[in-house]
Amino acid sequence: MTARKASNRDQNGGRNALAALARNGELFRGRVGLLGLPIAELPEVPLGASPLVITEHAGLATALEQRSDCQVRFGYQMTAGDQRTVDTLVIFVPKAREALDMQLALARFLLAENGQVLLVGEKREGIAGAARQLQALAPDTRKVDSARHCQVWVAGLAATETPFEPEQWLRWHEVECAGTRISVAGMPGIFSDGRLDEGTARLLESLAETPVQGPVLDFACGAGVIGAWLQAHSPNTGPIDGIDVQAQAVFCAHHTYQRNQASGRILASDSLPGELGRYQTIVTNPPFHSGVHTDTSMTEAFLSQVKQHLEPGGELRLVANRFLPYRELIEAQIGECNLLFQDSRFTVYQAFRGKPGRRRTR
Ligand SMILES: C[S@@+](CC[C@H](N)C(=O)[O-])C[C@H]1O[C@@H](n2cnc3c(N)ncnc32)[C@H](O)[C@@H]1O
Repeated sequence: MTARKASNRDQNGGRNALAALARNGELFRGRVGLLGLPIAELPEVPLGASPLVITEHAGLATALEQRSDCQVRFGYQMTAGDQRTVDTLVIFVPKAREALDMQLALARFLLAENGQVLLVGEKREGIAGAARQLQALAPDTRKVDSARHCQVWVAGLAATETPFEPEQWLRWHEVECAGTRISVAGMPGIFSDGRLDEGTARLLESLAETPVQGPVLDFACGAGVIGAWLQAHSPNTGPIDGIDVQAQAVFCAHHTYQRNQASGRILASDSLPGELGRYQTIVTNPPFHSGVHTDTSMTEAFLSQVKQHLEPGGELRLVANRFLPYRELIEAQIGECNLLFQDSRFTVYQAFRGKPGRRRTR
């Protein structure tokens, strides 16, 4: 399957979920909340006054904020005013089981008295397991429909007085590479929670062996491990900005920077914002998944824009699974590519804007 098809397939999954909900409009009552809405479209069902839309995706949040018919929250930082304001909360099944635990805790904070949860998702996304998680909290959980590869489940869920604090879902792990140790924040749904990703480790080793110059941007920063580690290992590098599309990543990166006394802006953005400015170095362990499918389209988009955010002579340092076809793309967009590291699994690429490269592998 090509990358673009995988991306379309995920969009189709979102449309299927909305279509499955639209068949069940009679279930909706009162003010509706949509948690984890997968595409920037609202389902065609009665949504009540000013529905609340919660998304983890910065691009979707920006698109939805253009609409005047809903209130949008990016990520899990709610206001006290959000408590007990939703009568029907739709949860679109998240990829990570633990993320559903967190979302169910949020549901109990958002739901008003006699509120209900509608759980929707495709079989391949694990809707059956998700329904069992809901049932553990709400014994009256029942399946109400099966259509468009999706199932729809409904349950009454008891509201709670307890505030919902995303900090309660933070946990910490230690990461060590090339003799430098840092603490890294994690939370449900974030990339490589609880451990240092092997690709990231190869990138950090290359940064220890072949230093980079600041100012630095870490694109697709996840929990902020690269920026915090690099500042601890090479303090002269200076502040390192981070960008990520996912709310949990932005939240965790802030906390990782704070705990390790690292500095730099952490920005929520889908790909590189045009007004970003230029860096001497851009480092990245870029995304190659969309849902469960290999999808290089985000990284292709990044590579097509990265040159304009590098100073003349500035460096791109990128780690990727060896099977991914980035060398030609990097050479086409930036210039000749050095392979700083390669084994059977990973490649670390280096390219300079406007400079010929030297080939070196170890
Ligand atoms: C392979 S992970 C790397 C995370 C972190 N740099 C590390 O090494 O642990 C890729 C990251 O890309 C982020 N991402 C995916 N699509 C993105 C996009 N369009 N723009 C910015 N970040 C994106 C994901 O949220 C994820 O945190």
